[in-house]
Amino acid sequence: MEILVFLGPPGAGKGTQAKRLAEIGGYTHLSTGDLLREEVKRGTDLGRQAKSYMDKGELVPDDLVIKILISNMSSDGKYILDGFPRTISQAERMEELGLRPERVLLFNVPEEVAVERISYRRVCPKCGAVYHLKYMKPKEDELCDRCKVKLIQRDDDREEVVRNRYRVYLEKTAPLIKYYSDKGILVEIDATKGPDEILSELLKILGISDER
Ligand code: AP5
Repeated sequence: MEILVFLGPPGAGKGTQAKRLAEIGGYTHLSTGDLLREEVKRGTDLGRQAKSYMDKGELVPDDLVIKILISNMSSDGKYILDGFPRTISQAERMEELGLRPERVLLFNVPEEVAVERISYRRVCPKCGAVYHLKYMKPKEDELCDRCKVKLIQRDDDREEVVRNRYRVYLEKTAPLIKYYSDKGILVEIDATKGPDEILSELLKILGISDER
């Protein structure tokens, strides 16, 4: 099993890069945010419980998140964990379960960049593709390139919720920077750069040949 962890504030570009890297490097991309949103969409019990936290920009309780993550992993895969762990206790639980990350990639962006990226983010309600109305525009006005359906804004992408998500990140998730740095597996990335430049840097760090 091989595990990479993508760490960083909301809007840093973790999901965008995880999708690209997964395709090139043969990883399975597991975003706990996406998995939770899927449960909400399906109206499951877990989804209903998670929604009340997500709508406020608060973290969903560890037990729910770990349950959903584990049910999507097998013992021999190659994974990019995007948005997990998000607290020291999640990181410790992960290790108790024998899930040890090889590398933790920290996507560094200041709050204003993150908020600007999120306020122009639109997603496809059908396939989950992510766009940015300035930097990663759909070919036709607010329509998904693949599905041709109208793009939507995520429920938790309203500015006041985004600010709270950033505050929660600083308080609960940022302590993981020292935690993984002390283990010698943290690599910092300047995520204010353009998407292609960031992908090249990731491929270089991971020793994967760039065949784009
Ligand atoms: P989650 O879905 O994980 O949200 P997040 O971490 O806040 O991250 P985002 O999806 O907002 O941002 P991203 O870094 O992936 O950026 P993206 O690539 O889309 O979590 C949502 C909620 O679920 C949480 O608040 C919590 O309630 C719950 N949750 C999830 N995991 C949990 C856990 N482990 N424990 C407890 N609760 C949990 O990019 C953003 C925008 O910028 C896009 O429009 C994109 O097109 C654009 N963009 C990307 N890269 C660039 C670039 N280089 N230059 C310009 N624009 C760019």
